Amino acid sequence: MPAATKPLPESVLISEPCLQKRIRELGTQILADYENQELILLGVLRGSVLFFADLSRAIFGAQLEKPSREVQVRFEFVQLTSYNNNTQPSAVELIHGGSDYLEHQNILIVEDIIDTGQTLKLLYEHLRTLNPKTVKVCTLLDKPSKRRVPVTIDYIGFEVPDAFVVGYGLDYAQQYRNLPYIALLEST
Ligand code: IMP
Repeated sequence: MPAATKPLPESVLISEPCLQKRIRELGTQILADYENQELILLGVLRGSVLFFADLSRAIFGAQLEKPSREVQVRFEFVQLTSYNNNTQPSAVELIHGGSDYLEHQNILIVEDIIDTGQTLKLLYEHLRTLNPKTVKVCTLLDKPSKRRVPVTIDYIGFEVPDAFVVGYGLDYAQQYRNLPYIALLEST
């Protein structure tokens, strides 16, 4: 896309310190909830990667502050598609699924944003067929105004308004994923 027509994320919606503070709180809560258990953090590629990395370290950081608590964390990833280089949802297709070793495990889905809920519903239904012990959901952002299917979310970082947001893993046409904050996407 030529630079002149490329939308620019001009306004910061959630600053870097604000993100990091909330992620530390989530880490503390997750550690308390899964104390002395094994936990598979299931990252949904590609939008959740920065959140995933910081959340996993926040769980460890919380553990350092409360050494009597421990959670054994494993990493797994899935990839789905719901957007085609634009801001409108299209079909959701499961590209990579979980494997046999998710059976009898505690799975925490780590998402960047829940919008219509269709991606999460499809993933959740797929995971249930793999016979896990528990499946919970942690999303950095929740956009409830766009919900089309009901979903249960166990951990929410922030609620965001009905606008397209980018940064901190979230993209527009594969751009802006490496911003350290969440910004509103604005057309020029
Ligand atoms: P859903 O299936 O509509 O809930 O959409 C989930 C996926 O759509 C997210 O994991 C994102 O990849 C993408 N998405 C939804 N809203 C936004 C947004 O505002 N900015 C960037 N990506 C979004």
